[in-house]
Amino acid sequence: MQNDAENALIQWFKKNHEQLPWRLEPLSKKRSAYVVWISEIMLQQTQVASVKAHFLRWIQKFPNITELAKAKESTILKFWQGLGYYSRAKNILKTAKIIQEKYNEKFPETRQELEVLPGIGSYTAGAILSLAFHQNEAILDGNLIRIFSRFYALDFLPENAEQKKIYWNKAKSWAANKYAFLKNEALMELGRNICKVKNPKCDQCPLRPHCVSFLQNKIESRPPKKIKLYTPWYGVIFIAKSKDQKFLISEGSSFFLKNQKTFPHFSSSPSRAKGIPAEVDKWLQGAEIKTFRYGANIEHSITRYKIFMQTLFLEIKNNAPKTTHWISEKELFDLPSSLCKKVLQALEISPSKN
Ligand code: ADE
Repeated sequence: MQNDAENALIQWFKKNHEQLPWRLEPLSKKRSAYVVWISEIMLQQTQVASVKAHFLRWIQKFPNITELAKAKESTILKFWQGLGYYSRAKNILKTAKIIQEKYNEKFPETRQELEVLPGIGSYTAGAILSLAFHQNEAILDGNLIRIFSRFYALDFLPENAEQKKIYWNKAKSWAANKYAFLKNEALMELGRNICKVKNPKCDQCPLRPHCVSFLQNKIESRPPKKIKLYTPWYGVIFIAKSKDQKFLISEGSSFFLKNQKTFPHFSSSPSRAKGIPAEVDKWLQGAEIKTFRYGANIEHSITRYKIFMQTLFLEIKNNAPKTTHWISEKELFDLPSSLCKKVLQALEISPSKN
């Protein structure tokens, strides 16, 4: 029965697949490991629509490992701007350097070697091995988990080792013959466009005749809902502007934005601060405050943190002290993180006209 479902899936994918900038026609063509790697990392936690333009820009700027490995981290981050989860971009650079130095710019072709590279887990390794090297290697991501939960009537998510093994074994069974590269990608696309979280389009699904949950009329209740656990973080984030038009930056002192330039911030109680919080002094190093104002409050999610922040703008009477890190206005508007952009917006700060 799975055989019939697999054939139906392949036929559906051949007929209905989207044209995407990282895909080659015909689908049977081998893709470069570099292209698979970059596109799959971009596609993690990010919608296909926003990946398309980023991917094209990236490939133009960094067409191969050679060009990528010599780029500066700040350039990489700029090209990642808008995709979020910036550790993905930093890991890409680390991995590019390892592939250049250790593997003479050629991607390793085993799961064992791939999975120890920064940012490459079992999903990405499986995607590279199947989509680029046409090996019979499995992948498992949120799309496949949803499909398998429904198709096989699994009322649990792959949370513990035993559950993960069950899901991975299902994934391996779909990748077990020579069309793994087609079926893996077809499953991802089916999950995205047909077997969707909400309002799945069962009437268009090639797996419907064999889908246990469809036959039981239980599609909506599978997979079971995960209780979302996030850690709330309350604080104040501020932009300080010096007399000589510089802006204060904090680097590496945040626990949720590691090693990234951002605005100084500190935790506070969920009740709102008024006036100038004492913590600000530590950053200003004795500089005197001329004016201050609060902007709109912002919410921002970074990995497992849900951040609730007050935004504050300060102007100081002095020039920027040399002991802390201050940047120009141009650099201010070039900061890559979406948190910084939100803060600028909440404080209604826009580039000056001159
Ligand atoms: N989602 C993530 N990777 C994908 C791919 N290669 N094709 C379709 N959807 C995807």
